[in-house]
Amino acid sequence: MAQVILENIYKSFPGRKGERTVASSTAEPMLLPGDEAPVTTDKSSQLPGSINILRRINLTVKDGEFMVLVGPSGCGKSTLLRLIAGLETLTGGKIWVGEALVNDLPPKERDIAMVFQNYALYPHLTVYDNIAFGLRRTKSENEVEQSPQQVPPWLEKAVVGMTRSLPLGLRYLSDKEKAVDKQVRTVAQLLQIESLLNRLPKQLSGGQKQRVALGRAISRNPQVFLMDEPLSNLDAKLRAETRTQIVKLQRQLGTTTIYVTHDQTEAMTMGDRIAVMNQGQIQQLAPPLELYNHPANQFVAEFIGSPPMNFLPVQVKAPLLIQHPQFRLTLPEVWESVLQKYNGRTLTLGIRPEHLSIGVPAPKNLLVQVELVEALGNDTYLSVSLTETSTLQVRIPPDQVVRIGDRLWLSIAVDKIHLFDPQTAMAIQSESQG
Ligand SMILES: Nc1ncnc2c1ncn2[C@@H]1O[C@H](COP(=O)(O)OP(=O)(O)OP(=O)(O)O)[C@@H](O)[C@H]1O
Ligand SMILES: [Mg+2]
Repeated sequence: MAQVILENIYKSFPGRKGERTVASSTAEPMLLPGDEAPVTTDKSSQLPGSINILRRINLTVKDGEFMVLVGPSGCGKSTLLRLIAGLETLTGGKIWVGEALVNDLPPKERDIAMVFQNYALYPHLTVYDNIAFGLRRTKSENEVEQSPQQVPPWLEKAVVGMTRSLPLGLRYLSDKEKAVDKQVRTVAQLLQIESLLNRLPKQLSGGQKQRVALGRAISRNPQVFLMDEPLSNLDAKLRAETRTQIVKLQRQLGTTTIYVTHDQTEAMTMGDRIAVMNQGQIQQLAPPLELYNHPANQFVAEFIGSPPMNFLPVQVKAPLLIQHPQFRLTLPEVWESVLQKYNGRTLTLGIRPEHLSIGVPAPKNLLVQVELVEALGNDTYLSVSLTETSTLQVRIPPDQVVRIGDRLWLSIAVDKIHLFDPQTAMAIQSESQG
């Protein structure tokens, strides 16, 4: 088992005509003054014209931790995993796996198993042999205790080889093969693919292939698992089931895991901690509920939570009032010192759909018109217009009947509001949040 440390990781790819380049790049939203310049290890990708994909990534994944990387498509999640696995060269920075600096180690010496977004199975091997493949390669002969009355290794090898093409029950199994067999069957049972062991990859559905790929990684028992959207081809039910199984399995094995997804539900339910990424940078690193309750900036606030948080411009009037052309709200006292500081300024108010509810006519409430009703059975989501330009998402209990065109008064749960600085998009913390 091992921790993984990413120190000041940079990655650029050589650019193509017409693309945003290092020299012309203006999108450095979170780069702070005094940031270290990257230690360049790959000169070609630092040439003018190259495109910054990852910038200033610092992350320590603890021994045995389940770390989720989440972010929108193209933000650099797969690139980061491929760097850790050794499948891409770093432009700058250092990567440690356990005690070892692995910058210059080839993938196979990093003791890492990766499940790719586009899983690759050996097409000519059965499911069983696909899973067993890594085990046969990694487990050395002397790992298995030699029993005194053992057959000579050369003879055993020959018999194993001769019977390998026979159906499983008729094969000769050496002690090593017996250990492999046990491991393959345990993993197959965990992933519910026991009935598929004799099939070839071409005889499997996408979801089944994905589970085999997962099984192959798990069975190798590496120091670190890297998983890149391993559940993307599964249907909703199997996805939820496999999600639980992976988490359970990871707890049992205690293997440090870095798991990539763009699905925020997956991130929230699986991760010990989540690193939210955008445009090649980590926006926030925190346990799931902390991201939900205390997002560090507007991007995280919008990305975590479904439907996303609503944002409205409000004017601050100390000591505790915030005003919008349509409503005025008195905030709890924990906001007093903040509002004093921002008195007279415009801030962005953030409120989640689940923290709005249908209320009564009042100056503190919002008069809205219902544009869309999505009744899902367990919840109802409304899209409502506050003014001609701003639309809000609202979650209401399913027993409240609302129709398109209805005019409603919405009440804001004042203890659930968020405030952001419109210039920096950073969250403003109240006193209770420290
Ligand atoms: N070999 C490459 N050469 C040039 N650009 C690349 C290369 N590989 C990836 N990119 C670019 O790097 C960016 C990040 O890609 P990456 O695959 O890491 O995104 P991702 O976060 O995994 O997205 P997704 O959720 O869609 O899988 C993208 O803009 C992509 O076009
Ligand atoms: Mg990807």
